[in-house]
Amino acid sequence: MKGTVEISGLTVRYGATPALNGISLTIDASQFVTVLGPSGCGKTTLLRVLAGFVDYEGHVRVGGVALDGTPPHRRDIGIVFQDYALFPHMTVAENVAFGLRMRGWAAAAQRQAAQDAMRLLRLDGLAGRYPSELSGGQQQRVALARAIAINPMLLLLDEPLAALDRKLREEMQVELRDLQRRVGITTVFVTHDQEEALALSDKIVVMNHGDIRQVGTPREIYGSPRDRFVADFIGTSNLLAARVIGSEADMLLCELAEGCAVRVPAAAADGPTVYLSVRPERLRLAQRSASRPGTDNRLPAVIDHVTFLGHRSKIRVRLADDSRIEVDQPNDGSFEGRGLGTGQAVDVLWAPKDTVVVAQ
Ligand SMILES: Nc1ncnc2c1ncn2[C@@H]1O[C@H](COP(=O)(O)OP(=O)(O)O)[C@@H](O)[C@H]1O
Ligand SMILES: [Mg+2]
Repeated sequence: MKGTVEISGLTVRYGATPALNGISLTIDASQFVTVLGPSGCGKTTLLRVLAGFVDYEGHVRVGGVALDGTPPHRRDIGIVFQDYALFPHMTVAENVAFGLRMRGWAAAAQRQAAQDAMRLLRLDGLAGRYPSELSGGQQQRVALARAIAINPMLLLLDEPLAALDRKLREEMQVELRDLQRRVGITTVFVTHDQEEALALSDKIVVMNHGDIRQVGTPREIYGSPRDRFVADFIGTSNLLAARVIGSEADMLLCELAEGCAVRVPAAAADGPTVYLSVRPERLRLAQRSASRPGTDNRLPAVIDHVTFLGHRSKIRVRLADDSRIEVDQPNDGSFEGRGLGTGQAVDVLWAPKDTVVVAQ
């Protein structure tokens, strides 16, 4: 099908060290997929494989067509790099038409396709300018126009927004997503910024050390991280080591290192030790209480540090074993919002269902 991507058993080595370890991945047509992971995990290498710039073992098919051995200029793929790589001696219009010229389009068709792409990216008035006469956001839009002018089956974007300041970056995120929806090009977007990945993607592919750790929708990746790495890399997560001590109905009973027992959703535990991930926004603080009524998990804690952020506060608390966890507290006038201070004894509460049991 047009725009599907099928990758299987993909291995890339630079010298002796592998940059990709036999990864497999399928991307549906018209999806916006983000490859997310720390610097050096192999994101750019994966894009270079798709673009045809690097030798690999394994198989790549785009739109049902095997691309193994096909040189870059014969692939129907548009690319935008982090540094835009515009040609400084060409005008905007010439830059946008570059791929069309390389592919031998007739002059009239070149003009038409370039004009369409420039209109899509709101560059109409800038056709005669040179890159040095454009702002960062405009240069970025020229790079995007150049990539989509050839009407590619696949669009590859390697950290294209990284060089922009925060406000422009957020504007460009919305613009990029809008454009992708309108044009419907299958897009593989690379970033190391987890918020950007959550905001933009139909699907996120989380990578580490040349392996794919999890593939899922932003909600799946954030809400049900599969292992410690994913839980920790995506958003802030409190990770608690625990020992399984029993089970009741559909719950596991676990003992934390700090001594308390908590209930968590039943999960396939492959040993006596598990890791529990709880997001800061799922935790609440309450007055310290000796009684333990109700079904919520409840741990005694002492406030360690409060960071006031306006509409909410980030509160770090210390547990009985001296470990620290983070609570995200809306400043809404509730008990917790009313001036909690360092050194204060509190209880941390959360619903058992808000715990994710993650693999080592
Ligand atoms: N041309 C190269 N020669 C040797 N090693 C490379 C080359 N390009 C990348 N690497 C190495 O391969 C790994 C993956 O790199 P890369 O795909 O650029 O990661 P990312 O884009 O996620 O930061 C890194 O360890 C990097 O140092
Ligand atoms: Mg990179």
